[in-house]
Amino acid sequence: MPPITNALLPPTVALLLLLQTQFVASNPIVVDLELQHPRLSNSQSHRAFPKTVHLFTPQQTIFPSFVSSLLRSHSSNSFSSRPVSVDLLGGITKVGEYYTRITIGGQHVRVQVDTGSSTLALPLAECDRCLPSDQRYNPRRSRTGHARWISCVNDLCEPDACALHKCSVCSSRDACCSEENPQACGFLLRYGDGSLARGALMVDLMSWGSGNVSAPVIFGGILHDSVDFERPIVDGILGMGYEALACNPTCVEPPFQQMVKEGAVDDSFSICITGQGGKLVLGAFDPSMARSNLTYVPLALSDPPTFYTMNVSNLITVGDRQVNVPNLRAGILDSGTTLVVVSETTFLILLDQLVKFHCDVPGLCDTDKPWFMPSACVKMDPEMLNRLPSFTFHLGSNSDFSLELRPEDYMLHMDGRREQGYRCVGIMAMKELQEGTDIIFGNTVMQRYVSYYDRKHKRIGFAEAAEGCGGGSSCASNTQCDECALSSGCSYNFQTQSCKERRGGVGLIPYPECSGARCFCRLGRQAGLTFGVVDGFIGTLLIVGVGLFVVLLYSRRGGSGLDAIGRGGDREPIYPGDDDEDDVYEDSAVSERNEMGKKYTPLPAE
Ligand SMILES: *[C@@H]1O[C@H](CO)[C@@H](O)[C@H](O)[C@H]1NC(C)=O
Ligand SMILES: *[C@@H]1O[C@H](CO)[C@@H](O)[C@H](O)[C@H]1NC(C)=O
Repeated sequence: MPPITNALLPPTVALLLLLQTQFVASNPIVVDLELQHPRLSNSQSHRAFPKTVHLFTPQQTIFPSFVSSLLRSHSSNSFSSRPVSVDLLGGITKVGEYYTRITIGGQHVRVQVDTGSSTLALPLAECDRCLPSDQRYNPRRSRTGHARWISCVNDLCEPDACALHKCSVCSSRDACCSEENPQACGFLLRYGDGSLARGALMVDLMSWGSGNVSAPVIFGGILHDSVDFERPIVDGILGMGYEALACNPTCVEPPFQQMVKEGAVDDSFSICITGQGGKLVLGAFDPSMARSNLTYVPLALSDPPTFYTMNVSNLITVGDRQVNVPNLRAGILDSGTTLVVVSETTFLILLDQLVKFHCDVPGLCDTDKPWFMPSACVKMDPEMLNRLPSFTFHLGSNSDFSLELRPEDYMLHMDGRREQGYRCVGIMAMKELQEGTDIIFGNTVMQRYVSYYDRKHKRIGFAEAAEGCGGGSSCASNTQCDECALSSGCSYNFQTQSCKERRGGVGLIPYPECSGARCFCRLGRQAGLTFGVVDGFIGTLLIVGVGLFVVLLYSRRGGSGLDAIGRGGDREPIYPGDDDEDDVYEDSAVSERNEMGKKYTPLPAE
């Protein structure tokens, strides 16, 4: 997540990972990576999957292949080109934000792993607007004896910065002091989508991987942030980029670099992600994550180095055709960006190729508005998917590595609706990208390729990811109800208090399990108990509430309501799950798509 323009990611769930064998370097440390569902975002942010997507549904659900060849010349109406806007609630499978747990001053926090920025920022106990669900760091409770603020009069605090950054509290040397704690050196993170976090610089001991790697680090303690800075479940952000990006405005040593300096770990790391989480290996590449050997691309670092930038050929391959994309020269690999992000011009070139040469794909050429556009989701069966071409980018000045995005890589499954076959375009176009970056390779790419950030040799290694990152990714590593509920494909069991693979696809998940954004984790065991033995005040209240609901419904509908209630009505108020959201938008999307410009409004759940 390049900080100035926009940045990265979003929230939720987790998985993890086991230690594997045969590391390239000695003493690697393996850290669990957890996944968040995409954060809702505005259109100019690449921190997430877009908030509003357009659904397209073929009017005929079946396109026999002999029919589709005819579509090329006529049939202007086989797809509705009218977008239906919906809010994405549960997020999409396999794409999102990836986070990990670290310990700072002996306290646990969850931080997004972002190779597109370089700062560690965490909410402090005193933060005024940080999310209530945040796990916060309290310097007064630090168990390391290292905790302290960096003073605003300390030489480290960047002088002559006040005017430039419009800071409201300045030191005699014109350093920015913290607004909330004026004795301390100020810290300000601002993203292109308008979100921000500010506070004061602090020092404490950070450790990772069950304490196997640790070092004192300087980080931003957040005392104030905008509501959209991070989502529930992820508390802060850990930048894994180069030092020159860690100036906010005072420049500090990025934590990973600090750990390398202390000799805690080798100067490289590798990342593998899956729909349920993934694995971050500090100090090495772990071959068990991959099913092919590494191919290296030299880093084309700026001076001073900032992002993980690689040269990219301006010739790309679309299907079997070479296409020239002017102005495509360099790209960055960024774990904090959800999709692949390109300029609008580049996006139009891709679209142009599809429209010219791939008209056998339903809906691409028959309307004035083909469905291939950023944040569009389309109902497609495997046959339609297979007719799309792959896009291949050639990385490195000598085409060292051909990064191929197959249709199944760039058309992303929508969460919870696999069987319905909606897929969303995993490529996003932005008006302005950071200077020197013509394409951002985000999570869309990283779920296909394991990446090895070999900082020591200034190169990136790519290899095809093994299924589940070779670790048999599992739901069981999500110990908390809220983390489990938001993990793709996992459900939380109130009785056993464990997280398991979710059985079946859609529909309500019956008690004692729940899944999705509206799993009532806060009620915890009480919620579970209401369905077993009535126990305690909350349980009684819930039972009474549900009883009233049943009586009401029955009296309004007459006898016909009983059947529905008898089967599922009693748990509905408690475990709506995420899937009913999906039903809503799926059904409505289809039924309303022909109404002129009508904005979709969610129907009340039955
Ligand atoms: C940390 O080190 C201990 C002992 O050296 C080892 O057993 C454990 O697996 C290590 N943990 C990680 C996460 O690497
Ligand atoms: C990247 O491309 C630039 C411009 O062509 C060139 O000067 C530079 O040496 C290349 N860097 C690498 C690592 O290939």
